[in-house]
Amino acid sequence: MFEHFTTPEEIFSFKLGSALTMEHDSLEMLGELASTTPRPELRELFNSHAEETRQQIANLEQCFELLGEQVNDSPSPATKGLAKEGKSTISKTNSSIVDAVLLAAGLETEHYEIAVYETLVNAAGARGAKDVAKLLQHNLDQEIAASEKIKDAAKRIAHDGIAVDVPVGHAAETTTGNLE
Ligand SMILES: [Fe+2]
Repeated sequence: MFEHFTTPEEIFSFKLGSALTMEHDSLEMLGELASTTPRPELRELFNSHAEETRQQIANLEQCFELLGEQVNDSPSPATKGLAKEGKSTISKTNSSIVDAVLLAAGLETEHYEIAVYETLVNAAGARGAKDVAKLLQHNLDQEIAASEKIKDAAKRIAHDGIAVDVPVGHAAETTTGNLE
């Protein structure tokens, strides 16, 4: 759809589509993180951000509608790369200490998402699309809040001890054992 950009609006539409693909990738990753962690409180954290992510996807689709444009699914190779790196590291990590890896993957993704939304909010504001900027700001605020929760959890776990007793056959081994 976009091969060469000649206007800021085209760049914006492309980046908006990338953000949509990014959120679909994030939703998949959050599901993986939730099913892999042995800690119920982290499962809850990842699942509740997955719920927010579903709303963020709807917000992004609404942005296209407000702009009178068709939803596009521009690529998001960065989130594909983050997911690949996360899966690879999870597969190499003992289940009892896997939370350190899950939280790192989650935080790295949140930081990327924050940067994407900061750019989009700025661009939407510059073109006077107030309703679009508001929806994007809402997504940005949720990403910032999620990153803070992940950082808090990582600090707490690092302080209290990363390792937990994991029952034999826990999801961490069964869901990620075949990944590279
Ligand atoms: Fe997020």
